[in-house]
Amino acid sequence: MAVATACSGLVVFVAAFSAWSLMPYTTPMTPERIAKYGKWAVVAGASEGLGAAWGDELATHGLNVLLMARSPNKLETVAQAIRQRHGVEVVTLVQDLMTITKQDVLDKVISDRDVGFFVFNAAYMAGGEFLTQPLEEHLKVSQLNVNTLLTMTHPIAEYMKTRGHGGMVLMGSMAGTVGTAYYPTYSSTKSFIASLSRALWYELRPHNVDVVGCIAGATTTPSYLSAAAEAGDQRSTMIEQSPEAVVTECLAACGSTGAVATGALNKLSQMLLKHWLPADQAVQFISKVTDLQTRGGQR
Ligand SMILES: NC(=O)c1ccc[n+]([C@@H]2O[C@H](COP(=O)([O-])OP(=O)(O)OC[C@H]3O[C@@H](n4cnc5c(N)ncnc54)[C@H](OP(=O)(O)O)[C@@H]3O)[C@@H](O)[C@H]2O)c1
Repeated sequence: MAVATACSGLVVFVAAFSAWSLMPYTTPMTPERIAKYGKWAVVAGASEGLGAAWGDELATHGLNVLLMARSPNKLETVAQAIRQRHGVEVVTLVQDLMTITKQDVLDKVISDRDVGFFVFNAAYMAGGEFLTQPLEEHLKVSQLNVNTLLTMTHPIAEYMKTRGHGGMVLMGSMAGTVGTAYYPTYSSTKSFIASLSRALWYELRPHNVDVVGCIAGATTTPSYLSAAAEAGDQRSTMIEQSPEAVVTECLAACGSTGAVATGALNKLSQMLLKHWLPADQAVQFISKVTDLQTRGGQR
């Protein structure tokens, strides 16, 4: 009888804990948080998709934004739309992030701006089996997703710590949850980003600087949609989120956690992959899904 009661209690506890884990963070952007993250937000990789959505979301709260990417026309279109919608100051910086230096970050990004928020959104992805891609492609993935991220994050974190306030989002991916075949290097860089975000969340918290890794799943950005179309329209419509939904949920989580999987289904998948399945089974599971999405499971 006692054992049965204990078991039912455990089941109820696990069910309640799982349900609680699927809830989104809802911390509002109070005047205090806006002041902590103001006056300027920098978005690295902002000419479309999630980066453009980040610019728009931050401007909604009255932050001025600096948008960075390589395509001047696309950047200006995004900047113009944000200016019209929110009446904030928007500056564009055309820059190939693959080659940015610490001095560029100090001179061109921070400059004399009051930078209170930073989003590292850009990524390079080389899809396909590890050996079907030349080494140079893998090195480009690690250059942008790891080296550039550090080159920008280090001086900006130092600047925020010195000033005693700020917020930072590093864009991760569900692909980085356990390691994903057919995107081996990309998924590994996203695991790195999740770990780094959690570590920085802990280290910078005492300095009033919030850091969060945004673990997005399938998001209907132009690059996701064109990749899906190339793969014969293999879309995961059930788990897809809009860029706006991803950034709104992630901003609400910033300060409360070191990394957030956005959307209930991504949270559930993360729980399954990280906590319920043994690691090897988790890799097989996510890799089969990737295989289906990219080649209709023909491998
Ligand atoms: N979409 C999804 O389903 C999904 C899922 C999980 C995670 N994510 C993550 O979310 C982030 C954004 O993804 P996304 O789908 O919106 O788009 P994306 O195609 O990865 O584009 C991101 C932005 O980065 C810029 N960019 C790329 N390389 C650059 C470089 N070398 N220098 C400067 N800017 C560069 C692009 O602009 P330019 O080409 O103009 O330079 C674009 O504005 C990425 O970190 C991605 O890994 C996306």
